Amino acid sequence: MLTGKLNGKIVLVTGASSGIGEATALALATDGAKVAIAARRADRLDDLANRIRRTGGTALPIPADVTDEAQASAMVEQVLREYGRLDMLLAVAGVGVAAPFKNTAPAEYRQMVDVNILGLLYPIHTALPTMQRQGAGHIVVVSSGAGRYIHPSVVYSGTKHAVSAIAESLRREIGKDGIRVTSIEPGAVRTEFTQNMRDDVRQAVELRLGDMEQLESADVAAAILYAVTQPPGSMSIS
Ligand SMILES: NC(=O)c1ccc[n+]([C@@H]2O[C@H](COP(=O)([O-])OP(=O)(O)OC[C@H]3O[C@@H](n4cnc5c(N)ncnc54)[C@H](OP(=O)(O)O)[C@@H]3O)[C@@H](O)[C@H]2O)c1
Repeated sequence: MLTGKLNGKIVLVTGASSGIGEATALALATDGAKVAIAARRADRLDDLANRIRRTGGTALPIPADVTDEAQASAMVEQVLREYGRLDMLLAVAGVGVAAPFKNTAPAEYRQMVDVNILGLLYPIHTALPTMQRQGAGHIVVVSSGAGRYIHPSVVYSGTKHAVSAIAESLRREIGKDGIRVTSIEPGAVRTEFTQNMRDDVRQAVELRLGDMEQLESADVAAAILYAVTQPPGSMSIS
């Protein structure tokens, strides 16, 4: 259902080359937002941009690695140069090796910390002064159920607890400036996320999920669309 509330809004979505980020960019563009779409795989971004444009929408693909501070900042700055403002930053990019700690290599936990925490902080840090000048803005982060309860994937769960805590602390810090912060915490979603894990971990995760009915990316996109189209008073800080 179209809300018509996002007409002309400028939105930057990280992790837009697949899964939840892709579905969210599509949903917001369909509702009228101009979406800047970022991730490392430029071919995927171009494909998504073409699909959005074919339906009359506006999309700006920005290939960027969010773990690189300079690239993450340049990504936000490109949006500001192109459109002159930023209404929403959706930090969706994330990776996970959902394994017990003893079965997680240092390179794997470094990557989870780099993408899930630093790759979230860098773009927020660059976007904040503009949102504060605007006196408005909305930051949406995608944490996880694993960021709320204790989960058998020590480092992934740890990074997502950090994401949820960062979102809640940030909301208290900048809510008074008219900037909203929303943390989305889905359960299992059918995306490439599990496919990207190494074989033994993927098999263990698939065994654990069993026949569980998983969410689809579009379900999470609908939750994000709902969150970003609520009236200002629904998220005020007292
Ligand atoms: N799937 C689930 O069950 C589930 C549940 C709860 C929460 N989540 C969270 O939802 C978010 C999206 O995950 P998903 O399920 O949609 O997985 P996905 O399909 O694998 O998407 C992950 C996205 O992150 C991007 N990304 C990874 N590393 C990056 C980097 N260094 N720089 C820039 N972009 C990077 C990927 O793009 P490139 O590879 O092209 O860079 C891709 O667009 C993640 O934060 C994840 O933790 C997922």
